[in-house]
Amino acid sequence: MSDTSLTVGFRDVDAAALDNILRCLEHIPAMDAGRAYKARALELLGLTPGSAALDVACGLGDDVARMKAVCARAVGVDRSRELIDRARARHPGCEFAVADADALPFADETFGAVRVDRSLQHVADPARVVREMARVARRGAVVLCAEPDWGTFLIGGRHTPVTERIQHDWVRTFRNPWVGRELSDLLAEAGVGDRRQEAVWLPTRGFAESDLLFEIDANARRLSAELPDALAWLDAYRRGEATAGVLMLTCWGRKT
Ligand SMILES: C[S@@+](CC[C@H](N)C(=O)[O-])C[C@H]1O[C@@H](n2cnc3c(N)ncnc32)[C@H](O)[C@@H]1O
Repeated sequence: MSDTSLTVGFRDVDAAALDNILRCLEHIPAMDAGRAYKARALELLGLTPGSAALDVACGLGDDVARMKAVCARAVGVDRSRELIDRARARHPGCEFAVADADALPFADETFGAVRVDRSLQHVADPARVVREMARVARRGAVVLCAEPDWGTFLIGGRHTPVTERIQHDWVRTFRNPWVGRELSDLLAEAGVGDRRQEAVWLPTRGFAESDLLFEIDANARRLSAELPDALAWLDAYRRGEATAGVLMLTCWGRKT
């Protein structure tokens, strides 16, 4: 795991190299599958012209702007000051605050909908964050989590022991790689009922895209210190279709 790894960087963006983080944040919503699961999540929030909505760990704030287009008040919080400054500059009509997801700076039962997207995978205590989300949601409000489950991560091409190690090493860079499958339990424990779940496959194709999202080059080079075959594997992968992908799970329910 290098200091510049995306997955480590997302835990504390203000201390990380920003370039890859920004490219990743911009790229996922531009993918067909990224656009699809985000559009579906927005629909599931059930926002109305009078409602107030919160996006926890909002990054650049683009989802906050999409919420604001269909509700009265849209708020985004993130622990990164750098990302919140950028969100404010991109979306002047929305509210943003620097805050940790495990201590949300809002009174109980403030929002008619609360969401988190691809961030529980990075936090120290996902159960605490989901409890906070439920706390600031009104009774009957939708609480929604969209997260990958890295137990479903695959790298295309012929499967070899090197592929297996590269998959394994990448998955283990996450704090909470299997949080996708845990979402329903986390919501239940936080007092969110009537839960449903959907999944969307998030595929990459071609070396540039797969490497941008899954850091395959850096992982293979690091592994080559232990398994010299990793460099030949990387060369073959780069010259092939270079596909990869992960399942994105969206789980939502209503605060009881
Ligand atoms: C993969 S990005 C997702 C951003 C955004 N939700 C999106 O869909 O583009 C993860 C975000 O979680 C934020 N983050 C990580 N740990 C956090 C924490 N403890 N509290 C608040 N935000 C956190 C990061 O700063 C980053 O913006």
